Amino acid sequence: VVAASLGLTIDPRSPLPVYRQIADGIRQGLGEGRLQPGLRLPATRDLARALQVNRNTVVAAYEALGREGVVASHTGRGTFLVDPKEVPVPEPADPFAHAFARAVEGSKVASLLSVYRTAISGEGISFAGSFPAAELMPVEPFRRAMGAVLRERGAELLSYGATGGYAPLREAVAEGMRRRGSRVDADEILVTNGSQQALELVFRTFVDPGDPVLVEDLTYTGALSVLASLDARVVGVPGDEEGIRLDLLTRALERHRARVLYVQPTFHNPTARVMGEARRRELLALAARHGCIVVEDDWAGDLRFEGVEVPTLHALDGGSRVVYVSTFSKKLLPGLRVGWVAAPAPVLERLVALKQVADCGTSPLLQAALHRFLADGGLDDHLRRVRRTYRERRDAMLAGLARHLAGQAVWTRPEGGLFVWARLLHGLDATALFGEAAARGVLFSRGELFHAEGLARDCLRLTYGGVSPEQIEAGLAILGQLVGARERRPEVAAAEWDAVPIL
Ligand SMILES: Cc1ncc(COP(=O)(O)O)c(C=O)c1O
Repeated sequence: VVAASLGLTIDPRSPLPVYRQIADGIRQGLGEGRLQPGLRLPATRDLARALQVNRNTVVAAYEALGREGVVASHTGRGTFLVDPKEVPVPEPADPFAHAFARAVEGSKVASLLSVYRTAISGEGISFAGSFPAAELMPVEPFRRAMGAVLRERGAELLSYGATGGYAPLREAVAEGMRRRGSRVDADEILVTNGSQQALELVFRTFVDPGDPVLVEDLTYTGALSVLASLDARVVGVPGDEEGIRLDLLTRALERHRARVLYVQPTFHNPTARVMGEARRRELLALAARHGCIVVEDDWAGDLRFEGVEVPTLHALDGGSRVVYVSTFSKKLLPGLRVGWVAAPAPVLERLVALKQVADCGTSPLLQAALHRFLADGGLDDHLRRVRRTYRERRDAMLAGLARHLAGQAVWTRPEGGLFVWARLLHGLDATALFGEAAARGVLFSRGELFHAEGLARDCLRLTYGGVSPEQIEAGLAILGQLVGARERRPEVAAAEWDAVPIL
């Protein structure tokens, strides 16, 4: 009787879920005038019994109608049909205004996107970003590799591939890590869209909202953005010239009981410093004592042009507590967007599940072309060339700094990677200098962007990787003049600058 009074029938063969059939039936009755506005709907238990369905199904139907504005529920009194004329019509002016998730509201977006405003206007000299040298990119060998794999297995590679990655590339990546001392198999590798995605998936795997995550107080902005998007409680631990300070790390581990520590032991972004082997071993022992896992971001380990290689944390630890993240972006081609994670099976299983949700896998075609390029020896040739070039450019930058900023700043002397980190003396503010320099066509990355708490306003990161020695000299001469004169011009209006990701 109850169901009949609403004119409801359930079609067991319909592809629509039953709750939807109930909701649609009631809405239709209202629309056709069979059911009157104000009508009190039967109690969910009664309708469920009448239709011989689970009570939750009826609850779901009423809830759906509630969301659609067809019914209104009043606690204790029941659920009533609403007059269609009274169903509020959404404001047409800005349909998105009230639709945003809290995570992307207003000012949060800027920090999430990690953009800063900068003038990339034609002739400018950019020490900003950590882009590898464009003129050294092995375009032609890569074109050949791409042509070969397309010819040989085009249809397969233009279809969907395995979520974990293209098997031969996973094997090549594992082999490359084994050559550097890691114990790892291909099935412990997940290929990602750049190491930025690797970081996102890894943090998503281990961090719940509000969880403390320990990071170096100066660290990669993109990692800070991921942690912000996850509502993590980021705890910055200060470092010295060798990286994170273990006395302070111990205190932070005791105080915050964090499960995750994120570090870049080699050519740390932004300071370019390298942690020695002894400290690496101590760090691992400390993490083990406190039951903390370590996320190692080895973004530029292959870009050493001087000194002696230090084993990765992953190699030292045997891969048991370290989740290792790396990328082909800096040593080869950022436009491929190919990075990876190495992690033990139970971790990898979860990462693969999240990767499936994120994008169903990295492009099989690009992975296969990259694999062919590696198999043909292309990377070794390329690395030989870029290391030589980066060393020349590093030297040009150190010489230029000595010429133009001696007494005004102090800076690091990197043995690899793409940039130098500098601190201005005499209370000079790099953020203020940024506007003045941009107005003269010279860009750098402001220190505050890399600091967990937005400090380090007296610091700047200067990338030499993508700039010729002549440009380095010219750009540093301008910085030297500005710093020397301490002249303060009005800041350049933000609107004149384009947004560029901080890398
Ligand atoms: C330390 C560090 N990690 C990760 C990344 C992400 O790079 P990609 O996604 O291109 O691999 C960058 C980029 O600059 C970086 O500096």
